[in-house]
Amino acid sequence: MLVSAKDMLNKAKAGHYAVGQFNINNLEWTKAILMTAQELNSPVILGVSEGAGKYMTGYKTVVGMVNGMMEELNMTVPVALHLDHGSFDGCLKCIEAGFSSIMFDGSHYPIEENIDKTKKLVEICKTKGMSLEAEVGSIGGEEDGVVGTGECADPDECKMIADLGITMLAAGIGNIHGKYPENWAGLSFETLDAIQKLTGDMPLVLHGGTGIPEDMIKKAISLGVAKINVNTECQLAFAEATRKYIEAGKDLQGKGFDPRKLLAPGTDAIKATVKEKMELFGSFDKA
Ligand code: 13P
Repeated sequence: MLVSAKDMLNKAKAGHYAVGQFNINNLEWTKAILMTAQELNSPVILGVSEGAGKYMTGYKTVVGMVNGMMEELNMTVPVALHLDHGSFDGCLKCIEAGFSSIMFDGSHYPIEENIDKTKKLVEICKTKGMSLEAEVGSIGGEEDGVVGTGECADPDECKMIADLGITMLAAGIGNIHGKYPENWAGLSFETLDAIQKLTGDMPLVLHGGTGIPEDMIKKAISLGVAKINVNTECQLAFAEATRKYIEAGKDLQGKGFDPRKLLAPGTDAIKATVKEKMELFGSFDKA
């Protein structure tokens, strides 16, 4: 059964490790992430952007696939199904469809409007036992059409949003979705430290997990980050493994064109990426 992300993230914050959110795009992604979480005895969050939800024909398909797969795989580790960077309407749709967690990204609204909309969702999530992530200070880069300029969040605004009764808070600290540019200034630990001092026990979320150096990840966890989102890195790993398979002409040998064979190296590459991240984040054996 899908669970809210609340307990797993509170435990992570108290235990000084982070739970990975890995975004899914299709069956192969979902299978690779679930199997790795079970193998490593790690809690996990499956992230679904609005674009990926649409790609999979809608949120109900996603819920049906994930629930079915969890049953067939005899999953025992805690799994949350989470809307990533949701609009207000997208959040309502996912609540209706059976997600166990949502993110409302109101970072592009003036803070009063972000507060107002987040507050409404806090009430709904409370009655449903769902977890809610809110965002202050937009995350840089582009993800599925959601573009952020990459600012550092105002710690006082973070405190205002955290006090609304949300489960976890995403705050911009110079992080960017997708690959980091050569001249990237790195994460602003000063901002993170100030946010954590004001928000106390609130699990903090680090978006743009792809390509952040290991030492920065560890430092972020030590300053209160309890959830780290990874998307692009799994996409790159999948694409590279698939390209190698085709470049080696393996799709032309025997039944190498069978999608179950063609997509296997990419699926294995996602597994390896997820395993590496769970080890780095420290979430293995924490189920
Ligand atoms: P990356 O694609 O940079 O890993 O970011 C993922 C993310 O933050 C999802 O919200």
